Amino acid sequence: MDRGRPVDAELPPPDPWRVKVVEPVPFPTRAERQAALRRAGWNLFRLPASKVTVDLLTDSGVSAMSAAQWSGLMRGEEAYAGSASFDRFEAAVREVTGFPEVLPTHQGRGAEKVLFEVLARPGSVVPGNTHFDTTRAHIEHAGALALDLPAPEAGDLASAFPFKGNLDVRALERALSRAGAARAPLVLVTMTNNTAGGHPVSLGNLREVRSACDRFGVPLFLDAARFAENAWLARERDPALRGRTIREIARTYFDLADGCTCSAKKDALVNAGGFLAFRDRALAEKARRVLVLHEGFPTYGGLAARDLEAIAVGLREALDERHLAHRVGQVHRLGEALESAGVPCVRPFGGHAVFVDAGTFLPHLSPFQFPGQALGCALYLEAGVRGVEVGSLMFGAPNGTDSRPRPELLRLAIPRRVYNASHLDYVAHAFRRLAARREAIAGLRILEAGDVLRHFTARLAPLRPADAARVRGDWLSLPPIDPHAANGRHRAARSISRFRLRR
Ligand SMILES: Cc1ncc(COP(=O)(O)O)c(C=O)c1O
Repeated sequence: MDRGRPVDAELPPPDPWRVKVVEPVPFPTRAERQAALRRAGWNLFRLPASKVTVDLLTDSGVSAMSAAQWSGLMRGEEAYAGSASFDRFEAAVREVTGFPEVLPTHQGRGAEKVLFEVLARPGSVVPGNTHFDTTRAHIEHAGALALDLPAPEAGDLASAFPFKGNLDVRALERALSRAGAARAPLVLVTMTNNTAGGHPVSLGNLREVRSACDRFGVPLFLDAARFAENAWLARERDPALRGRTIREIARTYFDLADGCTCSAKKDALVNAGGFLAFRDRALAEKARRVLVLHEGFPTYGGLAARDLEAIAVGLREALDERHLAHRVGQVHRLGEALESAGVPCVRPFGGHAVFVDAGTFLPHLSPFQFPGQALGCALYLEAGVRGVEVGSLMFGAPNGTDSRPRPELLRLAIPRRVYNASHLDYVAHAFRRLAARREAIAGLRILEAGDVLRHFTARLAPLRPADAARVRGDWLSLPPIDPHAANGRHRAARSISRFRLRR
């Protein structure tokens, strides 16, 4: 049985793949990076990838596919209905998850749209450990309340608690008894918990969630985007799982649920695709009717048949233990290198990304100066490395009135099978340089932003020293800002004023 161990435990493990096709890495000059960032409105999502040297924006849809996946593409049988590629895709999803009803979607959010359109209503409550941003947006789009109930340990960035992805079961019981089965159409557990640091959910916790769901008669669904990494981390951290294969562990998690949404762009190692799966046939039939409306006929669901083939292969490769040992090992090595450069990170390290604690790294920036985004932009300017803010820009209310304190993080997500140790050393080195002059990193203000998922499209600009002085330090104790002092272009400053005035 392959346990992901090196061939010889005394030798350093080599990468478990060798390179067949190469792609040049862009090396823009500092002047080019500056110009690109200005054009992008200080929003890393707006940067052209051709101006990025090491791209850690996401681990989603950016995996290197295997030779077996590429040959699967050629086998794709492009038919509107009844393609054999769908049969192979369905068989792989059934084999890995055990769910009999399988609906392909163009990506994870396609599955979310269909699921919440079928199950959620205005006034519904959907509790979860921490909903991903598109999940939350779809729940809210259906008129329901997305209720995050992370384990209390998740809020302590430095805690070594091994399962910070867990759901707070006592809080869930309170929420379900208040809402009742009529208003709580499902509970959704995201594994790993991307938004809360990429931490795993323990099997014990999922069992408790299941029994709470049973007591209240509420179905349990999984967001299974990173099901294999969750299983790997669970086995590393839970002695009760030692000796079991990752495939068995992953299946034990799925066996506790009534269905799942899945973005196949993560653990399933493809560049496009997702699925929705159910145990219940009647529910699946309802979902298929909605699927046709948004995604396509139920045997292609918005995907080319060749994509279905690549997912079928990728889902099985996701459970390869040598691959998981290497992948999770890369994340841990980057985290350790950053910490030894004096960069505080969320502990323990998760499965797909290192989350830098930008709020602690840049104590001179208040949440309204978006420390995660400011650090991300500084990192890009320094070395052409791109991460993503997970903090007040991503989760703050569009009108700036959301006063909840939240971790201010910069996520460095590692694409699967793409970068090697030299790329990650380069990233650690760039951080070492930033650490030496962190006080000089300026905050940002929003120039324009949409109401939904604003971090994707917002335009920002560095705060001028005069503006920075207004929003620096302990922002909760700041005196109100004169709303008339901000001119039409300074919406962030106006938002802060509104926040202050309403309190
Ligand atoms: C946990 C989780 N759920 C859902 C999604 C949405 O998936 P997609 O980007 O394929 O729509 C993501 C994407 O990053 C995710 O991380």
